[in-house]
Amino acid sequence: MRERLVVSVAGKGGVGKTTTSALLTRAVIEMTKRSLLVVDADPVMNLPRALGVEIPSSIGDIATRLRKSIDEGSLGGEVAKQDVLEGEIFEALVEGEKFDFLAMGRTEGEGCYCYVNRLLTQILDTLSKNYELTLLDMSAGLEHLSRRTNRNVDILVIVMDPSRAAFEAALRIRDLAKEVHINFKKIVIIGNRFPPDMEEELRARLEEENLPLFGMIPNDDELAKTNYLGQPLTELTSESPAVKAVEEIAEKLGLLSEATMLKLLGTNP
Ligand SMILES: Nc1ncnc2c1ncn2[C@@H]1O[C@H](COP(=O)(O)OP(=O)(O)O)[C@@H](O)[C@H]1O
Ligand SMILES: [Mg+2]
Repeated sequence: MRERLVVSVAGKGGVGKTTTSALLTRAVIEMTKRSLLVVDADPVMNLPRALGVEIPSSIGDIATRLRKSIDEGSLGGEVAKQDVLEGEIFEALVEGEKFDFLAMGRTEGEGCYCYVNRLLTQILDTLSKNYELTLLDMSAGLEHLSRRTNRNVDILVIVMDPSRAAFEAALRIRDLAKEVHINFKKIVIIGNRFPPDMEEELRARLEEENLPLFGMIPNDDELAKTNYLGQPLTELTSESPAVKAVEEIAEKLGLLSEATMLKLLGTNP
């Protein structure tokens, strides 16, 4: 049995988490045959478009329905609730040719969603065991990080853009991961859209915090256009500098090791 990897992409809002997640997905599906589950864990749900995926319903939609049933008293005890949710989750799971996709979405209504959210997190943990690789595009709020129960081999990718707020958020995320005792095997920083002459300064500043600068994604006009036109980033070619950079990052993270093997065997398409 091969190692199961769970990769979470986190960072402040707008720094490029969804972009990074979409390009990591692209790298994995283009260069490996690994079974891949991609999860949009951000309620804003930008990832389906970035990947060109149609979602029938989000987990949040299902949870909202479940909450209604609970409020109306038409459901039994804890076990029944979990069963219903587990059954319905497959409604939200989009099974694609190259990867499966799940959108967490958000629950509607007032009050605390802790209960439903906790269930969702458990289910996500169970589900991810069926895939060699699970990729999570996280929300800036980190809800899912703080509720994770999963102790699989994990990589936390923190994306930063050249802003003080993104830097501070990166440190907070790292600290939060420690606080909630998620022992990531690796925590890495990706600098997105930094002017090239800022790289050394960033690397030095991160080193003071014991954080490695793992990779840089350049600003990419083609990517910006593709996003603006609402086209999937998976359609970008390897000519795109951001795509190239993320392919290297994916390789360095060990997500493409199978591809490396295929290449060595001369069977890579
Ligand atoms: N390397 C890049 N080159 C050009 N545009 C980028 C790059 N990274 C992100 N963007 C753009 O910045 C915006 C925010 O990126 P996004 O990935 O949605 O951030 P997040 O998911 O962290 O909120 C999007 O419009 C995206 O197209
Ligand atoms: Mg996003």
